[in-house]
Amino acid sequence: MIKDLYDLGDAPELGAVPKRMYASVIRRERYGEPVDAFRTEVVDVPPVRPGQVLVKVMAAGVNYNNVWAALGSPLDVITARQKQGATEDFHIGGSDLSGVVWAVGENVRGVKPGDEVVVLAARWDESAEDVRLGAEPVTSASQRVWGYEENYGSFAQFAVVDDYMCHPKPARLSWAASACYMATAATAYRQLFGWQPHTVRPGDPVLVWGGAGGLGSIAIQLVRHVGGIPVAVVSSQERGEFCVGLGAEGWIDRRDFDHWGRLPDASDEAAMAKWLSGARAFGRRFWEVLGERRAPRIVLEHSGADTIPTSLYLCDNAGMVVICGGTTGYNGDVDLRFLWMRQKRLQGSHVASLREAREVTRLIDQGAVDPCLSRTFGFEEIGLAHQLLHENRHPAGNMAVLVNASE
Ligand SMILES: NC(=O)c1ccc[n+]([C@@H]2O[C@H](COP(=O)([O-])OP(=O)(O)OC[C@H]3O[C@@H](n4cnc5c(N)ncnc54)[C@H](OP(=O)(O)O)[C@@H]3O)[C@@H](O)[C@H]2O)c1
Repeated sequence: MIKDLYDLGDAPELGAVPKRMYASVIRRERYGEPVDAFRTEVVDVPPVRPGQVLVKVMAAGVNYNNVWAALGSPLDVITARQKQGATEDFHIGGSDLSGVVWAVGENVRGVKPGDEVVVLAARWDESAEDVRLGAEPVTSASQRVWGYEENYGSFAQFAVVDDYMCHPKPARLSWAASACYMATAATAYRQLFGWQPHTVRPGDPVLVWGGAGGLGSIAIQLVRHVGGIPVAVVSSQERGEFCVGLGAEGWIDRRDFDHWGRLPDASDEAAMAKWLSGARAFGRRFWEVLGERRAPRIVLEHSGADTIPTSLYLCDNAGMVVICGGTTGYNGDVDLRFLWMRQKRLQGSHVASLREAREVTRLIDQGAVDPCLSRTFGFEEIGLAHQLLHENRHPAGNMAVLVNASE
């Protein structure tokens, strides 16, 4: 006889699914500051459809996307889903988890009840026309981010994912450390190794914005692992030292410069000259940290509007700026002269393929890359964790939340 609802940390026997569960829920009327947007509620456990897996969530990762979900901007995720036919008027976020496969739908392959897994949040329709015509699934028009664009993410006792999204949990890591890394690590891995011929080679200088952040802390280690030379950008000495500890050659304090933001109009020569002198000073600092006068062959971007003009200016001839986010805004100003005359590449990159997720997980499992778990929060602190991220007051690395696990 199973109960309708179990406390966090408690559950019926493997395979038995209760009707209801605790979840940290965002509702439209609470859109705003993350600390107030999340609230624990009891909701129905979602159905498990063919090809899907119900995971008992042990721990969840904290990512920037649920800062956006909490704010209701730039995407009102609940309304967007309802326009696609969803009936729920709430959002359960969380795009990273570690947990136990609890039940499986029809035709599930590759995982079975009892398996300990982590999840890559990229979900797509395997029968979509573009996939059938040969597109890499993560680039499919059907691709959505689970736990952000799609509901029933990891901030709940149970989550529903597609079978191919599951990867073996790194055995050496705790539930929290396993839950904290995938979204940032797999994304950084694709940025650095997914865009031939611009993959990191031994000796390549690489500029990493937000070196102490989720993406940055993993990127530094990945660049070093293959013999590249990572240089971090940060906003405090403490964060800079953290990056050096991970393998950065050194760090640049972005507070020493003030040329950030959108480019002036190209015809305003005085304003352009002022901007250029700021960008050049930043470039000289890069050389100082690197110890030689070479430009970064690859720039790992996610900060967006404030930094992209500098990224494109600084990037080496025939190098690549690879961008996966726009934390400071979405207007990416490009002085096209630098782009074409110096034959640079500006590449968008989003989440990762299954292969990339598996490869970065192997590196983490082998101990070659640390997931950089910074702080572990309790279930009632999900809003707080996102608020710290929103205000850039979070500790260096990746954060996690305990769901059914106690440590
Ligand atoms: N497309 C994808 O698949 C994907 C996946 C993961 C993340 N993302 C996006 O990537 C972004 C970063 O994610 P994350 O998890 O690494 O976040 P994070 O842990 O907050 O790290 C971002 C870092 O950016 C730096 N930063 C903040 N404001 C800045 C500014 N004005 N100029 C330069 N740097 C600034 C901060 O470092 P300092 O203050 O120390 O400089 C911060 O540590 C987010 O927008 C997220 O949505 C996208």
